[in-house]
Amino acid sequence: MTNYRELTLQVSGLISGVPHLIANLANASAALWEALPDINWVGFYLLEGDTLVLGPFQGRPACIEIAPGRGVCGTAVQRREPVLVPDVHAFPGHIACDGDSRSELVIPIFRGEEVWGVLDLDSPREGRFTEADREGLEACVRTLERALFPGV
Ligand code: SME
Repeated sequence: MTNYRELTLQVSGLISGVPHLIANLANASAALWEALPDINWVGFYLLEGDTLVLGPFQGRPACIEIAPGRGVCGTAVQRREPVLVPDVHAFPGHIACDGDSRSELVIPIFRGEEVWGVLDLDSPREGRFTEADREGLEACVRTLERALFPGV
């Protein structure tokens, strides 16, 4: 089981006080990639208007734009809450960027009250993400938000 407390501290240490958004998201995705076993993609999609646009990530090249409400990522934005998909083949509308992906976890990132983007994780293993992963990664995202948007 991943030590999310340690991982959150690491992510916070990497980006707190660093005023460079792309560098911060790139380092955060790299830290998650290093720490989490059995994943084939981790990264960010950022809202431009209503469209999610690919941000810094680790893994294979991915789809660039996700329309509002589409896929697991768009669903998480619409619901304003994490979406855990144990089997992507059972999720209607799942967008397959990498045919190897079997399970997925998407966590919305907030700037104040507004959804600003998502953290997206894919795994080649069905059922890879548990409720404990969701909780741990949500805590990590809350810390990320404070580090990215101090004073908001
Ligand atoms: N599977 C996602 C698309 C992004 S990739 O996984 C990197 C979705 O259904 O929204």
